[in-house]
Amino acid sequence: MSQPILIFDSGVGGLSVLRPIRERLPNAPIVYVADTGGFPYGTKSEMEVATRVCALLGRLTERYRPRLIVIACNTASTIALAHVRAALEVPVVGTVPAIKPAAEATRTRAIGVLGTAATVRQPYVDRLAADFAADCLVLRHGSAKLVEIAEAELRGRPAPRSDYAEVLAGLLDQPGGDRVDTVVLACTHFPLVGDRLAAASPRPLAFVDGGEGIARRTAHLLAGADWDEAGAGRAVFTSRNGDVDALRPALARFGLTEIDYL
Ligand code: DGL
Repeated sequence: MSQPILIFDSGVGGLSVLRPIRERLPNAPIVYVADTGGFPYGTKSEMEVATRVCALLGRLTERYRPRLIVIACNTASTIALAHVRAALEVPVVGTVPAIKPAAEATRTRAIGVLGTAATVRQPYVDRLAADFAADCLVLRHGSAKLVEIAEAELRGRPAPRSDYAEVLAGLLDQPGGDRVDTVVLACTHFPLVGDRLAAASPRPLAFVDGGEGIARRTAHLLAGADWDEAGAGRAVFTSRNGDVDALRPALARFGLTEIDYL
């Protein structure tokens, strides 16, 4: 596979970013990397995430020679994007919480940010809120549970509605939460279960995520690229943990038919 787009996440979350990229660039070869050996990122320290992501992307770049890297993970991007860009010569597109579009969409001027614990505490998120949502109430909730739920759903093991309702309550039961009309899905795992979240929501909410914006940016940076190997897709795992076999049908739905281990 020559000069693929390398899409990187701790687990299956980046598939929510792969989908819109695939729609825009159907012929691009894609290497999708799930860091099953480091999963989950959201409960780790900044130092652990930054060190691991930089080292891994260095190794992956040597092995796959990507044309462009997409860090399809809010946790890794809000912590390590600048370090990765400084270390690699390949263009790197990051994923950051879609606070700007949420602030444009909200009518009640109250938005929720649902991400991992590591993401919602980042100064990067403070800056996005100050720059784009200064006139909004911005509530945050970090949920490791919803990451696990999404991983299980993709392995064909659905969670009950009450589990989704409980995660949403962590956000909406905060002071001012009753005003929230727009929720940023600030973890790439969450759009994969967006319908389930919406179905468990106590009232209609708008959910926004960064997938489309990332795909647009990726297509823009790769405009004019010619692909000599139409649309191949390979999933790469950094360890055999995490029941990779159960993921095969979901991976195939996303066009990832080859499997490899780092
Ligand atoms: N998908 C990742 C994100 O966007 C994080 C999931 C995790 O490993 O905790 O933040």
